[in-house]
Amino acid sequence: MTATTIAALPTVGPYSKHFMGAEACIPHHGPSMDFDGSEQDPEMKTYSTVCVGREDDIKKSERMTAVVHDREVVIFYYKGEYHAMDIRCYHSGGPLHLGEIEEFDGRPCIVCPWHKYKITLATGEGLYQSINPKDPSAKPKWCSKGIKQRIHKVTVDNGNIYVTLSDEPFKCDSDFYATGVYKVIQSSSR
Ligand code: FES
Repeated sequence: MTATTIAALPTVGPYSKHFMGAEACIPHHGPSMDFDGSEQDPEMKTYSTVCVGREDDIKKSERMTAVVHDREVVIFYYKGEYHAMDIRCYHSGGPLHLGEIEEFDGRPCIVCPWHKYKITLATGEGLYQSINPKDPSAKPKWCSKGIKQRIHKVTVDNGNIYVTLSDEPFKCDSDFYATGVYKVIQSSSR
């Protein structure tokens, strides 16, 4: 069987319908499934793409959860766009799939149900409101704490939703809850 990597997936915006080479996929919510059953390639530091469900289903529920290479992710469908990110909030591991989506400064965010942190769907940045103490009359401004939640790539092909895990080399705060001892999902190989 042939390995499929993200390098083969042209992407436009947060998701793409220009996915080439996808076969019919059986949606699932269990342990990792991908086109060829391969695991992460340690040389390339990339992950094979995993089918997580059908477009029709996520459009109804506007969100779904999945396990992709033993990593829990949540996929949101909001205003015609798909976004995937680690399911556990970078702050203390709150369940983001149970949060509400709200817009702050025109930026759609998932609001964590535990302590109400705001995380942008598009970039994974944590947002906070800042005021200028020297000018208390000024309106508070939404500012970024930087990328805190790891986001992943969503691809759509032939009605199927695929997730490719991020291969960005930088550390995200959400990695803490997605890996190691805090990882909720145990590896299927154990
Ligand atoms: S765990 Fe998400 S805001 Fe605290």
